[in-house]
Amino acid sequence: MMNVLIIGSGGREHAIAWKIKQSPICTQIYVAPGNAGTSEIGINLPVQTTDFKALSKMVTEKKIGLMIVGPEEPLVKGIVDFFQSQPENRDLLIVGPAQEPAQLEGSKSFAKAFMKKYGIPTASYAEFTEENYQDGVDYIRHHSLPVVLKADGLAAGKGVIICNSHEEAVQEFEWMVRKSKFGIAGSRVVIESFLQGIEASVFVLTDGSSYVLLPEAKDYKRIGEADQGLNTGGMGAISPVPFFDAVLREKIIKKIVEPTIEGIKKEKYNYKGFVFIGLMIFNGEPFVIEYNCRMGDPETEVVIPRITGDLLELLLSAAKGDLGGCSLHTDPRSAATVVAVSGGYPEAYKTGKIISGLKEQSESIVFHSGTKNNGDEVLTNGGRVLAITSFGEDIDKAARKSYQTLEKIHFDDIYFRKDIGYEFK
Ligand code: AMP
Ligand code: GLY
Repeated sequence: MMNVLIIGSGGREHAIAWKIKQSPICTQIYVAPGNAGTSEIGINLPVQTTDFKALSKMVTEKKIGLMIVGPEEPLVKGIVDFFQSQPENRDLLIVGPAQEPAQLEGSKSFAKAFMKKYGIPTASYAEFTEENYQDGVDYIRHHSLPVVLKADGLAAGKGVIICNSHEEAVQEFEWMVRKSKFGIAGSRVVIESFLQGIEASVFVLTDGSSYVLLPEAKDYKRIGEADQGLNTGGMGAISPVPFFDAVLREKIIKKIVEPTIEGIKKEKYNYKGFVFIGLMIFNGEPFVIEYNCRMGDPETEVVIPRITGDLLELLLSAAKGDLGGCSLHTDPRSAATVVAVSGGYPEAYKTGKIISGLKEQSESIVFHSGTKNNGDEVLTNGGRVLAITSFGEDIDKAARKSYQTLEKIHFDDIYFRKDIGYEFK
């Protein structure tokens, strides 16, 4: 029996809390800082995700046995290393990689070098800084179009720019390297070839040497229907991905997942956590677009509900370095989640709007993202507000249920895409 602390405040953390709550070995769940949804499952602690000292105090005070780190920022800033250096937190088990391997997400250049070293298929690339600026300009001018520019560091999901002309690419390169467009994150730029194809993601839970593969997912990143408009953190997700057949899955395991875990093992990384592998599938061949050192949001809201069995047991095994021999069972049904956002998102939007209809009967699971409690009311508190997950015989039926549930939920200026899963109707 144990107390669990989940770090983060999104739909991902709500989904993890929801699942862990079902475990017979879970005593109490704490979420820092959490949202209105997590407050119904556990106890929210008003501590920010990067305030390691305050979190450490909470871990001691609340007798936490397992800490699960949801978002990338605390991981890339070294939360795992911090806790492992504290004598009073010596017995704490943690799901999340140490700072060095968290660079698989925190530094594009680190991730590309890792892929190159371990022969993992990805787009060809070169990297440049202020020091070899002119070489970068020449590299761009001779590059095929479109050309992709990536700020090396974390840039809140905005650091990737796909350029359709050499002039635009040189301009963006100059802004990043010489005008600090993304601050320090863009002082080094990875320039890579554009990959064509269909995107999908796989998720792996590892203890640094063994792994289990979680259900795959596809997210819908653009704000507008038919994948038009600005990029967002994610407007919906589906799992399974209908075009994932046995042949493709096997290729992904052999060419990407196994070499990735092998690399983590060979480098002796302290990696006990999730690896999120963003893929581009072209002509049946998978290529890695990016690694993330955590689960995706809103992908978690379809992946986690599809896991049958005890997630807490599995996470404990990973955190103890004891994942060998563990397996995972999945619900064969399809899951879809539709994200309701504040009007204006991903640009400026208002918060503090009253959300109604949350208690209505429905066949969906309503995960909260940007929400907060205000007495008896639940208010919007972010761009992405709710993720409505449903199961169905196929993706279309699952998505339809989420849309039925959304008919009962309201807040001022609510917006959601009406076409999640549209390719699979
Ligand atoms: P990232 O921030 O690395 O997740 O990239 C954001 C998005 O940019 C990805 O989800 C892809 O849609 C797109 N992208 C990134 N790299 C490439 C590439 N080499 N070719 C095509 N699209 C890419
Ligand atoms: N949905 C994309 C991400 O979590 O990065």
